[in-house]
Amino acid sequence: MPSKLHPLQVNPTTGEPYLRLPSPHDNIIITPPRMSDVDAAMRNLNDRKVVDWLSSPPYPYLQSHAESRLTMVTKESDAILADLEADDPEQSGGSLKIVGACPVHALREVAEDGTETLIGDVHLRRCALVHEGAEQTVSCEENAARAVGDPSIIWCAGDWLASSHHGRGIMSAAFRTLMTDWAIPRMNVRVMRVETYAENVASARVFEKFGFVQECIADDVIVTNTGVVRRGIRLLWWKHP
Ligand SMILES: CC(C)(COP(=O)(O)OP(=O)(O)OC[C@H]1O[C@@H](n2cnc3c(N)ncnc32)[C@H](O)[C@@H]1OP(=O)(O)O)[C@@H](O)C(=O)NCCC(=O)NCCS
Repeated sequence: MPSKLHPLQVNPTTGEPYLRLPSPHDNIIITPPRMSDVDAAMRNLNDRKVVDWLSSPPYPYLQSHAESRLTMVTKESDAILADLEADDPEQSGGSLKIVGACPVHALREVAEDGTETLIGDVHLRRCALVHEGAEQTVSCEENAARAVGDPSIIWCAGDWLASSHHGRGIMSAAFRTLMTDWAIPRMNVRVMRVETYAENVASARVFEKFGFVQECIADDVIVTNTGVVRRGIRLLWWKHP
């Protein structure tokens, strides 16, 4: 019988679960967030090559911002892991429990001496559906109220990668790993909708390469928290084939 955490692997020294990216990125793992990520999060989320493309993190990104987000997301990860550990697969005929989130989302580069450096994050959440005219419309409340594992839940994703690592195929590999290893089999994710600034070709490509299709470019004009004016939001959909 597979482990309750399947297909997460577990670090034998720390007991921390993780997913490993396939070669040639197998020096990168995806783990739960850690409170010790504060400094790396502040460094990356104050980097204009990263944060100029994001809509939600405050700028400047202060220690208090990092601490409060990491407190929240480590609690979420701990709760999912506790839920998985409490499961008794024998009672469900050997099938693995479906859960409402992914406990691993922090990308870490592992050096030859074992040192791990936070280089990014890829996080799935239920979509809040802010745009009118989307192909499939459901209220935010209705989407939030659906039971864990409901295949009609509409999911969205947010991601960032350290600018030192852009353009090497890392996020494409990380997103694919997270979807195929966890989101599809262990969360029953079947429908997703993501938004990127229209000029953010790299972000759109990460999703398109997984099978997302562009629905439209909404003509919103948005000023980012760093003061950059972004014209147009690209909406992309994915449905499990
Ligand atoms: C968007 C982001 C996560 C992409 O991660 P990445 O690891 O650099 O992306 P990849 O190397 O996997 O490249 C994905 C695709 O985008 C293309 N690409 C990468 N950088 C590009 C650029 N500056 N302009 C155009 N295309 C680009 C790649 O060629 C690749 O497409 P291909 O395989 O068809 O050639 C990363 O650039 C980032 O963190 N940006 C800042 C934050 C952000 O934009 N987050 C997403 C918010 S919606």
